[in-house]
Amino acid sequence: MASVFITASGTDVGKTFVAAGLIRYLRSQGEAIDAVKPIVSGFDPARAGESDSGVLLRALGLPFTDEEIHDISPWRFAAPLSPDMAARHAGTEIDFDQLVSFCETAMKEADGSLLVEGVGGVMVPIDQDNTVLDWIAELDLPVVLVAGTYLGSISHTLTAAEVLDQEDCDLRTIVVSESEGSHVPLFETVATISRFLPAIEVIALPRLEAGADHPAFAQIAKSCGLV
Ligand SMILES: Nc1ncnc2c1ncn2[C@@H]1O[C@H](COP(=O)(O)OP(=O)(O)OP(=O)(O)O)[C@@H](O)[C@H]1O
Ligand SMILES: [Mg+2]
Repeated sequence: MASVFITASGTDVGKTFVAAGLIRYLRSQGEAIDAVKPIVSGFDPARAGESDSGVLLRALGLPFTDEEIHDISPWRFAAPLSPDMAARHAGTEIDFDQLVSFCETAMKEADGSLLVEGVGGVMVPIDQDNTVLDWIAELDLPVVLVAGTYLGSISHTLTAAEVLDQEDCDLRTIVVSESEGSHVPLFETVATISRFLPAIEVIALPRLEAGADHPAFAQIAKSCGLV
């Protein structure tokens, strides 16, 4: 089955929001879907329900237990830092090969499709030598790149698309998820990114209520090959 890697132009842009929307859409269509968010930094067990793992488990309709959280997010760190730093502050490091094999096993074991949510943006360090880009290249999955409409997002997005292309990663879809309080127009941002990347489907996702449905989720699922 198809699996997809969800990355972003930066942190807090909308990866989990898009992943949860895709999960809800695919489940409403009767499609089998699973998700992992292998690395979480800034994880507070007292507020686990609000964490990425909590949001994804809720969308998947799975029970919210320590075991389920561990299964989808085995690398959890308290410090809200890049994964390499957060791991170092916890006196450990992320084993990149284990991270890759965790995802490969999750892909094999998933009943249907699997969404892999990355961490932060494309060039976030995972360990001493590897970034999210290396992780994407190792898994060789179609990529959904989530961008925002914050000022500066267009440059971050085109830069991310450029490095993904340099590593021959299969960028399928860019989702522009409207940033909170942004004065940058959503549809002009979509048009500008499309002008520079005419071969990539660029999809607008306006501000929505948490858990709301929107036709963009069906469009995203189709464009990255999930349906
Ligand atoms: N289109 C949108 N409409 C409404 N809220 C949104 C939208 N996109 C993102 N958000 C909200 O913005 C915040 C950040 O989004 P999200 O957690 O999905 O980012 P992320 O890229 O997964 O961040 P991280 O790097 O921490 O994993 C969340 O509160 C999310 O609900
Ligand atoms: Mg997230």
